[in-house]
Amino acid sequence: MTPRHRTGAAAGGLAAALVSLALLAGGCTEATGGVRGTPGTAGLRDPYFPKLGNGGYDVRHYALTLAYDPGNGRLDGTAEITARATQDLSAFNLDLAGLTVDRASVDGAPAAVNRAGNELTLRPREEIREGAEFRTTVTYAGVPEAITDADGSEEGWLRTADGAVAVGEPAGSMTWFPGNHHPSDKAAYELTFTVPAGLEAISNGVRTSRRTTADGRVTSVWQATEPMASYLATVAIGRYETEETGGAKKSSGTEKPNGTEKPNGAGTATAQGSTAPGSTAPEATAPGSVPVLTAAERSVADASAALRGEIPEILARQTRRFGPYPFSTAGAIVTADGTLGYALETQTRPVFPAASFDRTTLVHELAHQWFGNSVSPATWRDLWLNEGFATYAEWLYTEEFEHVPARTHFERAFAQDANWTFSPADPPSAENLFDPPVYQRGAMVLHKLRETVGDAVFDEILRGWPAKYRHANASTADFTAYAESVAGRGLDALWDVWLYGDGRPDTP
Ligand code: ARG
Ligand code: ZN
Repeated sequence: MTPRHRTGAAAGGLAAALVSLALLAGGCTEATGGVRGTPGTAGLRDPYFPKLGNGGYDVRHYALTLAYDPGNGRLDGTAEITARATQDLSAFNLDLAGLTVDRASVDGAPAAVNRAGNELTLRPREEIREGAEFRTTVTYAGVPEAITDADGSEEGWLRTADGAVAVGEPAGSMTWFPGNHHPSDKAAYELTFTVPAGLEAISNGVRTSRRTTADGRVTSVWQATEPMASYLATVAIGRYETEETGGAKKSSGTEKPNGTEKPNGAGTATAQGSTAPGSTAPEATAPGSVPVLTAAERSVADASAALRGEIPEILARQTRRFGPYPFSTAGAIVTADGTLGYALETQTRPVFPAASFDRTTLVHELAHQWFGNSVSPATWRDLWLNEGFATYAEWLYTEEFEHVPARTHFERAFAQDANWTFSPADPPSAENLFDPPVYQRGAMVLHKLRETVGDAVFDEILRGWPAKYRHANASTADFTAYAESVAGRGLDALWDVWLYGDGRPDTP
């Protein structure tokens, strides 16, 4: 048999024939007909978002080609999704919120599309065999809308006065592209944006091209080559000034007409060198370095420039504690206040509202590149592995460079009632995912681990954990098992009280 089977309503007679053939051949086909494949599931049964993500396939690559008109808010998109089937598939789902699908195809053949809420079901003309790589193309358009989360925060496609900023934790990325929107399915991305002249579109990864189109708009292509969970995809469209550390400052007015830009290797973060906080970042060129591209909306560009300049140095310091920086590029995006209500660790290039662009938050979002972005949560229940580590990274930073011991932060956090409302490993509902226990108690768990195993073993865990699960996913159980393996002993007493325990212990 060919790798693909025919299916669909028209295949009734054929199906009967296949059944007879299969019966003659030993009867491995199911009695329901000649159809072997089944639909992939409409969700991955995440404890908080059961419908998020989809079963039956594993995305390898997204190529998103998007045009945005800030005037009317309309987005025109094509998503080309390359995936590998993890079962014989008769149909499969993509998550998409809002927008209108014009057409879809699988491996070049038109696919039937059905829409129910945020679930898009595609039925390819031919079944897809387990293990096969297939390419889905979805053409869509509309005015994307933000999502209001259970905790009241806004995410997804957020419109600004002259552009937009897209953030997706935990579920907002489905407002601007169809996909497998659960953190367990990471993929590489190519993101192409066409926007009106005078505007920039800043995204994840390395900008590989920027050119003016025949009708005078600007098209930028970004390559995010390392695996990325979809909640970490971003784009910021507006009047941005960009800076590549060590390179020249460029404003959004200076387009290169037909230029193809090489990533600037001159500005780099390095694992070496240390200067006092607040000092100018070194223009380092050490091996193992990465280019740093920052962008800030024009109105906040000057005010954010000095701190943006500290990124190479902060990454160098974190590299010493957490091991090699996991991505081939770095940076930050600073947006004017009024749209985004919080910072997010979008991959390689975290995004900040200007009001949150301070050193502590920058340290936090950069630490997420190791903890959350490279090592991603297996499900949203494991979020404390992101937030606890990123918070602890703040404590470590001030301990090492500002002479405030982590123990001081720990005791402050211990004293606050708001940190004890639930255990970090088990937020009661989606509404509580980003509550203080996930951040502060998460960090307290790590501090108690450090006090229990000692600094040397703890340092080994800090470096070994992101190495072991680099570009992968991990759960709370993976973490406790890993910590115990490095410590060389069981740590149940620690986990029972600090990670899973219900209330505040008597003593910090
Ligand atoms: N992960 C972000 C941080 O760095 C916070 C995201 C908040 N999102 C939300 N839907 N409440 O802390
Ligand atoms: Zn965080």
